[in-house]
Amino acid sequence: MPRKLAFSLLLAILVLFAVMAGAQAQGGGGQTTDADAQCLACHGIKGREYTLPSGETLSLYVDAETSHNSVHGQKGIPCTGCHTNITGYPHPAFTAQTQRDFQLQMYETCRQCHDEQYQATLDSMHTKALAGGNRNAAICTDCHGSHDITAPNVPREKISLTCSKCHSAIFEEYKDSVHGAALMEDGNPDVPTCIDCHGVHSISDPTTAQFRLKSPEVCGKCHRDAAIMSKYGISTDVFNTYVADFHGTTVTIFERQSPDQATNKAVCFDCHGVHNIKAVNDPEASVVKENLLVTCRKCHPDADTNFPASWTSHYIPDTKHEPLVYYVNLFYTLLIPGVIGFMIAFVSLDALHRIWLRVRGRFSKEAAHE
Ligand code: HEC
Ligand code: HEC
Ligand code: HEC
Ligand code: HEC
Ligand code: HEC
Ligand code: HEC
Ligand code: HEC
Ligand code: HEC
Ligand code: HEC
Repeated sequence: MPRKLAFSLLLAILVLFAVMAGAQAQGGGGQTTDADAQCLACHGIKGREYTLPSGETLSLYVDAETSHNSVHGQKGIPCTGCHTNITGYPHPAFTAQTQRDFQLQMYETCRQCHDEQYQATLDSMHTKALAGGNRNAAICTDCHGSHDITAPNVPREKISLTCSKCHSAIFEEYKDSVHGAALMEDGNPDVPTCIDCHGVHSISDPTTAQFRLKSPEVCGKCHRDAAIMSKYGISTDVFNTYVADFHGTTVTIFERQSPDQATNKAVCFDCHGVHNIKAVNDPEASVVKENLLVTCRKCHPDADTNFPASWTSHYIPDTKHEPLVYYVNLFYTLLIPGVIGFMIAFVSLDALHRIWLRVRGRFSKEAAHE
């Protein structure tokens, strides 16, 4: 078939499709806007592909229903709201060599309407990895999608599932942790998803000294909150006792004075783990009696079996936890005021006694004179 004829035939078919799709859009309960119908005349046809210079194929099919139900479809944003460079066919020359090239070119379009999120991503670990040549680091569309964007946090477990697309090994640990299991199994709203500890659009480097020093605060956000913790019968003393003990005092002072220097003192996650934190009575927990010595030995290699007992743990000593420490404390709290009180009483009585003797002496002298 001569090329010119083939082209005219193709054009005729496409125009026909466009007219049909336009008519459908008008009669079909406002599924799509007129402008979208024009694009969907070609892009609503299943199975059409375009072969990229790399040999990968790009599906040209866009599902009208999905796109209509997305947040953007619901707000009436047309195809050209994002594809600002396309008005009709033929399209501007296609410059991407690979599928990833194309995605990396396209995500910039989100910035038009979401500049706040775009700016926030500029100092994220993902953008840094991208700038460093790691083309697999997350961009807007990896986490949100493009034609099928819906609320990113409904249901809440969707957040951690989004990160799991690329961080699958960490997700596997997390989903069996006390936090992750509660999220994935029960949709618990109180436990942390990945972003409660890492942030979302501006994810900072979790391996720095600064992150380590700040980490007790991250845990403390919830573990200090009595309204949250009372639901689970978990003590909120864990934060205060940590800050008060020899590990925590140093970490908190460090944070204030030399925030860029690494601390070797234990932070919460040295003892409890990070993505694999277990309930303290779980036999796999790093802090359960059987495993505690191993945990302390990470930093106290010479620790013997009595070593963990040298620490009062998180509890403010009472008759149940650390009774010995409690009674010793009680003894001192009674003894010290007792001793001081006794001294004061003794000195005062002695002084009174002396005054009394003097007054009496004077009286008896006067009596002797008379
Ligand atoms: C006449 C059929 C036709 C119409 C109408 C059409 N397209 Fe396309 N589109 C194509 C074909 C064929 C390709 C494959 C690449 C090429 O030929 O440029 C394509 C590729 C694309 C691409 C991917 C590559 C690129 O150029 O960025 C996007 C995005 C796109 N079209 C969006 C749209 C939008 C938005 C509209 C509506 C304003 C639209 N198209 C209307 C046929 C059409
Ligand atoms: C919210 C922004 C947004 C809207 C609205 C949008 N697109 Fe896209 N589109 C993108 C992005 C981003 C890509 C790049 C590929 C990716 O990241 O998935 C893309 C890719 C494409 C492609 C290339 C094939 C592919 O799927 O990668 C076509 C064709 C296309 N869009 C057509 C359309 C049509 C037709 C509409 C309207 C019904 C539309 N787009 C609406 C953002 C959008
Ligand atoms: C033409 C403007 C425009 C463009 C371009 C655009 N969006 Fe949106 N986006 C909106 C509007 C409007 C809303 C609805 C805001 C609302 O409901 O508060 C929205 C909502 C969202 C939401 C929030 C959903 C929710 O329920 O919280 C996400 C996520 C989102 N867009 C991602 C993207 C991504 C990713 C891109 C690029 C592929 C993009 N947007 C491009 C206008 C746009
Ligand atoms: C690493 C994954 C990831 C990347 C990359 C990402 N987002 Fe998000 N985004 C999320 C998650 C998760 C939420 C939900 C936040 C929440 O629940 O607090 C969200 C929320 C949003 C919202 C809703 C409003 C808000 O701020 O909570 C918008 C709009 C949005 N993102 C747009 C974007 C745009 C635009 C980009 C690219 C510049 C982008 N996102 C990059 C994961 C990501
Ligand atoms: C599209 C894949 C992808 C998605 C989705 C993704 N990431 Fe990433 N992430 C990466 C890549 C690639 C790196 C860079 C890894 C490297 O340099 O070792 C990275 C780096 C990170 C880092 C820094 C790691 C380090 O060693 O310094 C953190 C933290 C992180 N991501 C958290 C998240 C969170 C939280 C989410 C979900 C909201 C998420 N990521 C979603 C691909 C992704
Ligand atoms: C309770 C807080 C918390 C939660 C929840 C959490 N992280 Fe982390 N994450 C941390 C801490 C703290 C570190 C630093 C650990 C270290 O220095 O050894 C870290 C380190 C990382 C790193 C870089 C180091 C590494 O191990 O590769 C990545 C990537 C990461 N987290 C991703 C995730 C993802 C994905 C999720 C969700 C599935 C998640 N995190 C959930 C606190 C958390
Ligand atoms: C030196 C190691 C160590 C450090 C540091 C540490 N913990 Fe613990 N934590 C433990 C041990 C051991 C237990 C178990 C005590 C017991 O036997 O009941 C525990 C128990 C807990 C419990 C359970 C309390 C309850 O009521 O069931 C929580 C929650 C907790 N820690 C959180 C934290 C937080 C948050 C931090 C940081 C602010 C932290 N821990 C720092 C070792 C540590
Ligand atoms: C967003 C709030 C939040 C953050 C942040 C958080 N936790 Fe939790 N954590 C919880 C909740 C809620 C539970 C109870 C879950 C349950 O029992 O279903 C819990 C349970 C625990 C337990 C098990 C206690 C028990 O029952 O034995 C430990 C240990 C723990 N968290 C340690 C940490 C550490 C360490 C960090 C910081 C690295 C941290 N948490 C950060 C909310 C949080
Ligand atoms: C991440 C490392 C780390 C872990 C894990 C750790 N410690 Fe420590 N601990 C330190 C450092 C550093 C010091 C300060 C040592 C010094 O100043 O000589 C310290 C000091 C102490 C001290 C004060 C007396 C002394 O030896 O200097 C006690 C008691 C102690 N730790 C108990 C424990 C117990 C019990 C555990 C396990 C439940 C534990 N530590 C886990 C790093 C750690």
